Amino acid sequence: MNIKGSTNIVGLIGHPVEHSFSPPMHNAAFNALNMDWAYVAFDVNPFNVKSAIEGAKSLNIKGFNVTIPHKIEVMKYLDEIDEVAGLIGAVNTIDFKSMKGYNTDGIGAVKAIEEVTSIKNKNVVVAGAGGASRAISFYIAKYGAESVTILNRNIEKAQSLADDINLIDDVKADSIKNIKGHVADADILIDTTPVGMHPNVNDDAIICAEDMHEDLVVFDAVYNPNETVLIKEAIKANAKPVYGIKMLLYQGAESFKIWTGQNPPVDVMEDALKKHLI
Ligand code: ATR
Repeated sequence: MNIKGSTNIVGLIGHPVEHSFSPPMHNAAFNALNMDWAYVAFDVNPFNVKSAIEGAKSLNIKGFNVTIPHKIEVMKYLDEIDEVAGLIGAVNTIDFKSMKGYNTDGIGAVKAIEEVTSIKNKNVVVAGAGGASRAISFYIAKYGAESVTILNRNIEKAQSLADDINLIDDVKADSIKNIKGHVADADILIDTTPVGMHPNVNDDAIICAEDMHEDLVVFDAVYNPNETVLIKEAIKANAKPVYGIKMLLYQGAESFKIWTGQNPPVDVMEDALKKHLI
């Protein structure tokens, strides 16, 4: 990377940020396209979010990704919020030219799944009802799923999310204990829970191979490890696995497009992510 007086800066704000995969992914893309852009990570204390946004604008920074714990707080300091990001209630991408906030997490999951199957008219089961589920479930509905069933340990939380998603008619909530019955009738299973995430790689998967079917697409939002317990079960069942790293890849690709107006080299970004994962 050759940083010059003319270099356009984009970056990440969060707390902490030092283990982020985004800098190597975006910088690999900028290098491959010979673009005069650089991506850096900024650890921003929760007390300083407002001054970080104002300062970035003053410094002519072109864009930010936003991660935990600032995704909700930053919304207060923007001029405009993309419609679905507003429904989700969280922003992970800021374009400083327009001072507009977007949420590319959900689009990332949709694009990852759409490498394997179209979401339109599909019956989708989503496990978990936290921030990741919220971002993904809204986009699944927006992309024309026939039904979305949100399963969670805490059913009230699942019901509250289901009530918010009024983009399609058939949105339900249930206990994650009843997952077998729901998955039997589903086309796509999305796991947004942290089950199987490093270091808990030997957790029991939320559902076993015996209770999956061959036509099922199984997406695990966990990307560390790459092959989670759930993905292992999906492979055992001859179902169609979608790896969490793809969501990371496509959310980054969407952010890249928003900032630069260019199509990113997705294969280069994926290689950079894989190198960083190992
Ligand atoms: P994220 O931003 O990654 O979505 P989160 O907002 O903390 O994280 O949400 C985590 C989700 O995973 C929640 O839905 C949580 O369920 P509860 O609301 O019932 O707590 C779910 N979750 C966490 N650990 C889990 C486990 N061991 N089994 C099943 N679900 C789990």
